[in-house]
Amino acid sequence: MTGLQGIEFVGQATQRQNRRRAMRHWNTPLHTKRIETERAVRRFIDCTPSYYRFWAVADKTTDRCLGLVNYHDGHIRNKRVAIGYIVDPAHCRQGVATEAVSAMIRFCFQDLGLHRLQAFIHPDNAPSLKLIEKLGFRREGLLRENLRVSDEWRDDLLYARLSTDRPADTGSEGRR
Ligand SMILES: CC(C)(COP(=O)(O)OP(=O)(O)OC[C@H]1O[C@@H](n2cnc3c(N)ncnc32)[C@H](O)[C@@H]1OP(=O)(O)O)[C@@H](O)C(=O)NCCC(=O)NCCS
Repeated sequence: MTGLQGIEFVGQATQRQNRRRAMRHWNTPLHTKRIETERAVRRFIDCTPSYYRFWAVADKTTDRCLGLVNYHDGHIRNKRVAIGYIVDPAHCRQGVATEAVSAMIRFCFQDLGLHRLQAFIHPDNAPSLKLIEKLGFRREGLLRENLRVSDEWRDDLLYARLSTDRPADTGSEGRR
């Protein structure tokens, strides 16, 4: 899976409505031109791993891109990052995010030795809330007007999981 394929799904014309809906909780607009996707991939590749890192999520058999997961706002001294994720609407509710985000969590705690993973989620984002609670994150509070999306301020719920918290029982976290 190349980086370009990795986020190409957000730039295709078909299913644009679904994709626009999927992007409404991200603070970047939907790509409408291939060049926008290419530039974004270049930024992903060039980003500093201590601060940002992105992974394409690919289908094991076809290698087709299903989504992406990332960590951002890395604060190495405090062993803390925030995480993000998005799955192509055509492949949602099939356990893709559970498996991919579980793998990233394992990498963050076991390989990078991080202590605290955070997630910032809009209170109306039911799928993301369901996912993060399933993955063992705890709700810590409401952050008022924490994110600016298309000139509009959005509240976020802050969730976090510590390396010392009990692992979530998702069936996919123990695997390597
Ligand atoms: C959040 C998102 C990544 C979930 O991806 P997914 O691959 O569908 O998630 P999974 O299939 O692994 O499901 C995880 C849990 O959420 C639940 N879930 C998924 N979509 C749901 C929905 N629309 N409504 C209610 N629950 C939902 C699943 O049932 C599952 O719980 P369960 O195992 O107890 O049944 C996906 O909806 C998405 O890309 N949303 C848009 C981008 C976004 O909001 N990113 C997060 C920004 S904070």
